[in-house]
Amino acid sequence: MPTTPTTPQENSHQVAAKAEFWWAALILGIVTLLIGMMVYMTLHWATMPPSRVETIDPTTLHLAGEFVEDNLGSAVEADGSVTVRVIGNQYSFTPQCLLLPTDTPVKFRATSADVVHGFNIAQTNVNLMLIPGYIVTFKTTFNKPAELVMPCHEFCGIGHAAMWAHVKVVDKAEFFKQAGNGRRLSCVKQQ
Ligand code: CUA
Repeated sequence: MPTTPTTPQENSHQVAAKAEFWWAALILGIVTLLIGMMVYMTLHWATMPPSRVETIDPTTLHLAGEFVEDNLGSAVEADGSVTVRVIGNQYSFTPQCLLLPTDTPVKFRATSADVVHGFNIAQTNVNLMLIPGYIVTFKTTFNKPAELVMPCHEFCGIGHAAMWAHVKVVDKAEFFKQAGNGRRLSCVKQQ
C-alpha cells in the first residue's frame, strides 16, 4: 500500500468502498427478507417448532385412537371446517383417495405407521413429511374443484415409486351433501 495515494488511487478506493457498501446492503436485504419470511410463516401458518409436535405410538395406530381405520378420511367439524386424517405406510396411503371441499378450511392430521414418507399434493402448498411417532398437521384451503395426485416424495423403500394416492377437490355444496350422515368421507369407491 502506498503511503501517499495519488488521486486516481483515492478514486479507486472510493469506488471499491461504494461497491462494498452496496454489496453489503444487498446481502443485508436478502437476510432481512429471509428472516421476514420465517416470521411471516411462523405467525401466518402457525408453524410450530419440532418441540411442539404431537407424538403417537406408530405400532398401535390400527388398534385404537385417532388413526383407526374407520376414523381416517375427511371429517366435518362442528365449526364447519374439515379435518382429514391420513396414514402412510409401505407402500400406500390410507385412504387411497382424499375427498376435499372447496372454499373450506381444511386441516390435515397425518402420521406414518412404519418409516418416513413424503406427503405432497401436487400443484398445492401441501408438502409434509410423515414421521413414525409424530402427528403432522397442516391447514389450507382449496379454491377450485380439481383432481390431483399425491405422490410420496421421500424415499421409503423398494416400493417408493408406486406409493401415491388421489385427491379429489369437489364443490363445497356437493361435499357437504355427502357428509350429511356424519361418517368419514373419502373417494376410494368413486375411482
Ligand atoms: Cu413412501 Cu416413498
